[in-house]
Amino acid sequence: MPNAKRYPVIVGVSGASGALLAGRAIERLLERQQPIELVSTPSARIVWKQETGTSWADAVKRWQETGLITEHNPNNQAATIASGSYPVQGMLIIPCSMGTVAALAAGFATNLLLRAADVTQKESRRLVIVPRETPLSTVHLQNLLTLSQRGIRIVPPMPNFYQRPTTVDEIVDFVAARALVALGVAGELDESQQWSGIELD
Ligand SMILES: Cc1cc2nc3c(=O)[nH]c(=O)nc-3n(C[C@H](O)[C@H](O)[C@H](O)COP(=O)(O)O)c2cc1C
Repeated sequence: MPNAKRYPVIVGVSGASGALLAGRAIERLLERQQPIELVSTPSARIVWKQETGTSWADAVKRWQETGLITEHNPNNQAATIASGSYPVQGMLIIPCSMGTVAALAAGFATNLLLRAADVTQKESRRLVIVPRETPLSTVHLQNLLTLSQRGIRIVPPMPNFYQRPTTVDEIVDFVAARALVALGVAGELDESQQWSGIELD
């Protein structure tokens, strides 16, 4: 029987701000030799270009050199990850747009990212989302509550101010690590990201 740890995780990248979060989460998984099934939406690719100045295709090509990444066409509802019979450990959507949050809440599966998330839920596998929008409207919050009540883990990209980050990189690292811990596949936070406590006077 294959080692369960080697089953892939699905990483979905949607068109919310926070392209760096997706990049860091993917890199962190690859550093741990974790196979990834990757699916991004057309909007995610636009945001990636805007926020990194590089093309999504070039980034994927670089990651694919590890031999650990399988990228899927978001229109391909016949891809492996569209079926619950394909073994995966769980799914992370990072960043997760409010459009994708709404579709998840309503149960739409109109692209492969949404279908994979739908399958993840029906198979009772772990689903973690990193939703990004500000401010949040009532409908955003209602949709997020619906998802939380279904057991979806919600890890908003909120900085760890208490550890006094001084760079965007540090914040990105922290959020990506938090999301992967929630997914349960990437061990623990690095020591520098763990709270070491305060002694009261
Ligand atoms: C530069 C840029 C930044 C965006 N940031 C956000 C965001 O932070 N949150 C969000 O919900 N939508 C954001 N959007 C809008 C989404 O990309 C848009 O609603 C899209 O239809 C989402 O589709 P998807 O969920 O299929 O990726 C942004 C769009 C652009 C171009």
